[in-house]
Amino acid sequence: MTDVTPPDAALIDQSSAWQALLKHQKTLSHTTLAALFAQNPKRGQQFKASAVGLYFDYSKNLLTDETLSLLNDLANSAQLTTAIEELFNGANVNNTEQRPALHTAMRSSQADSGQLSSGTPQRLSSMNNFADRLRQGNERGASGKAFSDVINLGIGGSDLGPRMVVAAFPERQAKGLNIHFAANIDSDALRGILSRCQPETTLFLISSKSFSTLETLSNAGLARQWLNDAGFNDTQTACHFAAMTSQVEKAATWGVKPDRIFPMSEGVGGRFSLWSSIGLPIAIALGSAAFSQLLDGANAMDKHFRNTAFKQNLPVLHGLLSIWSVNFNRHHSRAVLPYIHRLAELPNYLQQLTMESLGKGVTRTGQPCTYATGAVIWGNEGTNGQHSYHQLLLQGSDTVPVDFIATSKAHCEPLQHQYLLANCLAQSRALMLGKSYEQALTETRASGLSEEAAAKLARHKAIPGNRVSNTLLLEEFTPSTLGALLAFYEHSVYVQSVIWQINAFDQWAVELGKTMSTTVFDALSKAGDHNKLDSSSQALINHILTRPPTRG
Ligand code: F6P
Repeated sequence: MTDVTPPDAALIDQSSAWQALLKHQKTLSHTTLAALFAQNPKRGQQFKASAVGLYFDYSKNLLTDETLSLLNDLANSAQLTTAIEELFNGANVNNTEQRPALHTAMRSSQADSGQLSSGTPQRLSSMNNFADRLRQGNERGASGKAFSDVINLGIGGSDLGPRMVVAAFPERQAKGLNIHFAANIDSDALRGILSRCQPETTLFLISSKSFSTLETLSNAGLARQWLNDAGFNDTQTACHFAAMTSQVEKAATWGVKPDRIFPMSEGVGGRFSLWSSIGLPIAIALGSAAFSQLLDGANAMDKHFRNTAFKQNLPVLHGLLSIWSVNFNRHHSRAVLPYIHRLAELPNYLQQLTMESLGKGVTRTGQPCTYATGAVIWGNEGTNGQHSYHQLLLQGSDTVPVDFIATSKAHCEPLQHQYLLANCLAQSRALMLGKSYEQALTETRASGLSEEAAAKLARHKAIPGNRVSNTLLLEEFTPSTLGALLAFYEHSVYVQSVIWQINAFDQWAVELGKTMSTTVFDALSKAGDHNKLDSSSQALINHILTRPPTRG
């Protein structure tokens, strides 16, 4: 494997392509989306691309053919083609940790030419067998009873992906087998679940790549205590745990039986790990066959990403348009709004994927970035948000670009699906077209108000419009199309990281909070000297220490 740390390179904002885009944006800022649609009745057909069950409409971005061509130049300046090859052939794209990013290898097969493969079927076969036996009631606890409840103990990438995919396919879950997720160190999260479970029929999955994450190990300790309190001895307790980790020895030392430890590779990043043994809750909830379909869908998107010209390449287009938004139109936030209740957890998952990957301030060689990087990603399921923050999306002072996500073929009752689609498409139109003052005035006059009152109210009812969005349609909602959608976002993130010259696969900042919390923990337990902390922390700690704890 090769090191792909470049020598100190010129920053991307010095490239001629970047400078040309800056100029181009100035000329485009004089036009509007509505005007662009009026000038070109075929715009909706022109600015779209589709592949592997996904239809991507990006026509409601403020762009022209020239924009796309300049963004293409920018991708070439950043050597995107080479970077894509490096991702797939196992180069050390994670240069600060000197390792490759192997998530695409997890879903490839030996037959995929030129693609690094981790021999996925072999690696995951014992985990898949375990999942299927569990679904059939053939994996049992210490007393010989089949498991009725599986609790995943994990956080970040060891929680969000599996949690989101499991919630997406409730009808596939085996009868009588419930899957739960506890992430927070706040013990109320796990206690709430335990109050609904029986020790004899509960299995805990300790999901931690590093097997050293405080939250997860704390919850695993509580779980073990819960079993002990129910009268289980050590041998019996061990029958109620499995682990997914790259630290097999640590898991064994903790007390997980070796045949219940499902290893994962160091090279698979936490936020890219649902394709590895970290996906065990998915295989349990959906069955191993559906888990394979999820991987196949992602693999199909990998091939599309690797082999398709930029102008038709869905993740490349999405990534470049995100750059266009952040750096040239100065939109530093993006809402992801799935009009699919099953994907209610998707925005949470994408927050980690995107913000932990792109929240960086130096380039791969350590030079400070002189341009903005990662946008804030947020969102929730539609239509719920329409009765909440869409007010700000439509009339607030800033433009927030939106990714609308929906399914073409009904995934729920046909009538309700039709309403969902109608609302989804209508919101993107409302954002784009808004309502002019004149239109608003016609309305307020018609309601019988005085001329003065009608004019005043019209000012409040006018909606600026010209707000940009993408719309992604999944042909149908299956494990395979969901796999393709998730890989689409993973690759868009990679594209953005390449343009910004940053490492998408490390997360050094996260460590700082962990270290500091140890110091504060010691101060709170009076074991450490809190006088060395800042005065705000000192005062807060003093205030807390004057209050007696309410629980033992
Ligand atoms: O703290 C951030 C992080 O390192 C994530 O990147 C990761 O997904 C999460 O913690 C959990 O880590 P682990 O799987 O090692 O417990």
